[in-house]
Amino acid sequence: MRWNARDGLLVMLACLGVGVISAWPWLVQPSLRPGVPAPFEIRAPQDASVVDSEALAQRRSQLGPRIQVQITDKDATRQLQQRLKRLLNELITSSEGQEARLRPISLTPEEEAFLITLSQQGEQQWPLAVERAQSRMLAQGVVSTLAEGQLLQASWQQLDDMPEPGRSLGAKLITRSLQGSTNLRTDNGLTQVLLNDLIQQNGVPKIEVQAGEVITVKGEVISQRAYDVLDSFGLISRSPATGLFLVRWIEASIGAGLMLMICRRWKTDLNVPQALLLLGTLAAVQGCKLWFGASVSALAVLVPPSLLLAEGLGSACGLSWLALATLLWPIPLNNIGTARLLVAGGVAVVGVLLAGRQRSRAETLQSAVLLTVAALLVEAALIQIMGGAVGGELLSEGVLMGGLLLLGLLLAPMVEKVFGMITRSRLLELCDLQRPLLRRLSSEAPGTFEHTLMICGLAEEGVRAIGGDVDLIRTGALYHDVGKLHAPQWFIENQSGDNPHDHLDDPWRSAEILQAHVDEGLKMARRYGLPAPVADFIPEHQGTLRMGYFLHRAREQNPNASDRPFRYRGPRPQSKETAVLMLADGCEAALRSMPPETSEEQACDSVRRIIHARRHDGQLDDSGLGPVEIELLVRGFVQVWKRMRHRRIPYPIPARKAFSA
Ligand SMILES: [Fe+2]
Ligand SMILES: [Fe+2]
Repeated sequence: MRWNARDGLLVMLACLGVGVISAWPWLVQPSLRPGVPAPFEIRAPQDASVVDSEALAQRRSQLGPRIQVQITDKDATRQLQQRLKRLLNELITSSEGQEARLRPISLTPEEEAFLITLSQQGEQQWPLAVERAQSRMLAQGVVSTLAEGQLLQASWQQLDDMPEPGRSLGAKLITRSLQGSTNLRTDNGLTQVLLNDLIQQNGVPKIEVQAGEVITVKGEVISQRAYDVLDSFGLISRSPATGLFLVRWIEASIGAGLMLMICRRWKTDLNVPQALLLLGTLAAVQGCKLWFGASVSALAVLVPPSLLLAEGLGSACGLSWLALATLLWPIPLNNIGTARLLVAGGVAVVGVLLAGRQRSRAETLQSAVLLTVAALLVEAALIQIMGGAVGGELLSEGVLMGGLLLLGLLLAPMVEKVFGMITRSRLLELCDLQRPLLRRLSSEAPGTFEHTLMICGLAEEGVRAIGGDVDLIRTGALYHDVGKLHAPQWFIENQSGDNPHDHLDDPWRSAEILQAHVDEGLKMARRYGLPAPVADFIPEHQGTLRMGYFLHRAREQNPNASDRPFRYRGPRPQSKETAVLMLADGCEAALRSMPPETSEEQACDSVRRIIHARRHDGQLDDSGLGPVEIELLVRGFVQVWKRMRHRRIPYPIPARKAFSA
């Protein structure tokens, strides 16, 4: 299948997109970071004493909650001052009136007398002195949890130049105004300063490194301590590695392009949505590798997608996808990681090869379960051998992989439909002669059904000879003429003597009726949900062939009649399989009518003539069928004819044997 410029551009952009995702780590992440395996062994270039950031952070978190520097807050201070003012006012006004009023605090008789004298004198000195004493206390800061007695004592001392009972009354009022309140707030900046001072006093935790000491071992996860040491030696680059990113980007994009080229080499009818499916799955898998980092399960990201792609697009596509997905691994791996990746790759290869042979969905399910179990056993054995610990991680990996496989199997029919793919199991389901459309064909158009079965035999043998897809052509052949169901009696194989075309006597109308078997066939294919690769056989088996007989009749009536209305509307065969079906369709009548005494050479000549006529008419130009394959086809068709002839020659049955059976 040819792709136009727009398709090519779209696919190229998708390849570049996959490249960007694959090269992403080189653009955004420091070259090394804690928690990922080291790509190589690194030794200390010289002696050094490095701040241990992990121990430092730990010490900080221990001290943090205990140390909080507090300062006085202006607003809270003002509120507390106003509260005292209110208390003083209430007290003085309560003593001015004649009748007794509720007072904010309880008073001794001496204090009461003091208040009365105070209000009579209109003295302002005492309240001011009390307010100044409160302000002095607030300037030092007051905490809400201070005991009442403590507050009382402090305020009493603040009023030391005041005679009794004014002094004790003032102290009571200050205590009342401050009790349970605070004018302090935490200052984060000053807290940090104090924290740093404290850490400095106790000594900053350090890591002592000697020249030549191993900091990281290849494949081992980089610890925070190792990271600190690497950072102090300037071995960690935080700026984007643009050059390296570009190299990786181009590398991955070219890889994706090559994968598509290999897929198209093996699956010539690979269309753009299918190419985008291959690239999209790859992008998703690359995304998973980045998102989950070192904890990504190679089995879960490699096996299910490659299995499903192999089912839908063939083993070659599955294998090339798998090769690229395994090679583009953006995370450095340790020994166990490499072993697991290899196991996953191996399991996926077996799965892909099996997927090409599976002949039912039940078989696919069976191999999915067996593969999961086998993969886990091999992985467990390998981890044991390499000295790792086999734990729940492996079990969860198995559950994840099994779950993804089942999900894939569930979604497969939908993916097949959307991307025009077809699996072997679906083809075999469609070949069942008990399916409704084929039952209709056998009962309503028995002649066409007979012709269909004959074509099936020829086409299968032909495709087997050239190494094509036998299951696909068998299914395509079964459905190629279903359009004849709309008017079976107009086709010669269903007629018994009377030909309605003779009564019609209008070659142009007759040509329309013949073309209708293609158009109606496509409608039926849609109605019965035939997948696109099978439905393609309906128009392509007729290509743009000429309806010679009716054109001849038309020219008898009008010698200048155009041949346009007498050609099928195409398209011409786009794959080897549809081309083989066209040729089988053309040779069937000729082979069937050959007398039994015809020699093999004569049969070959006659088939060859028919095929070459179609080839010279340009019908095979888009199919990719070469001259060598055509010769193999001729032999294949004649083989079938020989079998057929053999069946038609009656066995001589000796008279006496007739009684012995
Ligand atoms: Fe046909
Ligand atoms: Fe046919």
